Amino acid sequence: MDKKTLRKEILIKRSQIEGAYRREAITCVTHKILNQSHYIEAQTIASFVAFRDEIDMSEINQAILRQNKTLVLPYISMEKHEMSFHVVTQLDELVKNDFGLFEPNPVLHNRIPSHQIDLFLTPGVAFSANGYRLGYGGGFYDRLFSELTKATPKIGIAFDLQYVSEIPIDAYDQPITHLVTEKNSYVF
Ligand SMILES: Nc1ncnc2c1ncn2[C@@H]1O[C@H](COP(=O)(O)OP(=O)(O)O)[C@@H](O)[C@H]1O
Ligand SMILES: [Mg+2]
Repeated sequence: MDKKTLRKEILIKRSQIEGAYRREAITCVTHKILNQSHYIEAQTIASFVAFRDEIDMSEINQAILRQNKTLVLPYISMEKHEMSFHVVTQLDELVKNDFGLFEPNPVLHNRIPSHQIDLFLTPGVAFSANGYRLGYGGGFYDRLFSELTKATPKIGIAFDLQYVSEIPIDAYDQPITHLVTEKNSYVF
């Protein structure tokens, strides 16, 4: 199956997850992340704000702030075709972009070089048994991860139905190190 078809299929399945299951799954994933050793050890954490039916990261993001860790969130520059990470201290300071996604304001929120980030909590459409990630087609996380050392923990966050046996891989695709779903914690 090609990337485009797989994306479509998984996004439809993800949109059909029922409310009660969804809420329980989010609680479960949140709990697992907050107790994961890479999370506990990390000082500067790149997270994200859920887009559409992604796992809601609100509780995790609030916990990062409450625990006096540094929360950095992605900002996508369409002009530069680049994703940068910015320090956010209050979640209500985020601004809605043209796609309806809440982002930091690169003028107000300081940019942090990606090599200073200890842990990446990574959204995605699908994740494979060999640790590859299918995104939305922009390749933003591929470009980012290609500049980091392989050892940096990169934890995919997803519903278990987003875990698939295989994803088509191109030479530029970058693997992640872990995947946390409501059913499992995968180490790659
Ligand atoms: N390191 C890189 N440098 C330049 N372009 C890249 C890099 N990694 C990925 N890309 C580009 O990103 C685009 C989207 O990649 P793809 O893997 O299909 O998306 P996604 O990872 O979001 O599912 C590709 O056309 C590819 O050329
Ligand atoms: Mg890719």
